Amino acid sequence: MRRKFVAGNWKLNTTLESAQSLAREVASAVAASSPSVDVAVCPPFPYLYPVKQVLAGSPVELGGQNAYHEKSGAFTGETSLEMLLDVGCQWVILGHSERRQFFGETDASINRKIAAAIDRGIGVIFCIGELLEDRQSGNTESVLTTQLQGGLAGFTSAQVAQLVIAYEPVWAIGTGVTASPDQAEAAHAFIRNWLASRFDAQLAAGLRIQYGGSVKPENAKEILSKPNVDGALVGGASLKSDQFLGIINAAAELAR
Ligand code: 13P
Repeated sequence: MRRKFVAGNWKLNTTLESAQSLAREVASAVAASSPSVDVAVCPPFPYLYPVKQVLAGSPVELGGQNAYHEKSGAFTGETSLEMLLDVGCQWVILGHSERRQFFGETDASINRKIAAAIDRGIGVIFCIGELLEDRQSGNTESVLTTQLQGGLAGFTSAQVAQLVIAYEPVWAIGTGVTASPDQAEAAHAFIRNWLASRFDAQLAAGLRIQYGGSVKPENAKEILSKPNVDGALVGGASLKSDQFLGIINAAAELAR
């Protein structure tokens, strides 16, 4: 049984004060209800450590939104996986479409980052997803295949077991247009089958695949109830504690 995993990607949002108060609200509600789902928040880098202080003693985990594959050195502006671990992160998001689109990340550079993250023992949320034009031209599966092949090149199934995959169709991110539950399920089943054929059935059956793209409390239950959808990677709705908690509760009800 795959335990559902709801993570909030705060992107380039919040202030020191609002980050800490959002984390405090999430942590206290999760502590009070102890839902049978995993929960993480991924604040901007400067707020990781202050948020970690607020999360102390809570089951809510912490993730970075990106990292560089080198440990240290003359790489101005970069953040290492060691630094994320040092401030208490259990997770790092890698391969997000916004990193691919605005910061030139490629399947090869993402592969180097995933390799480093596996080596350092931090959990990875590996994001993949097609553009609207890919979907409209019937290329969703070939795009997902290319991203999976490139991102996971050279790994064993034991290494891939350290990952969570997030399927985030780019056309559904921040648009309010979510994938239908059937569209999400079809893509997730495709990803799981690909993992079974490229690695092995046991790995594929155990690996969690989150859905991301305009997840809200109102649509969460329907999407999360699909058999191959194991959680959500939430952007906009993770910035409001009541909305994020609504999504966590929807996941928790299904986990009962
Ligand atoms: P939205 O939930 O704002 O669509 O963002 C999804 C996302 O990109 C999470 O990583």
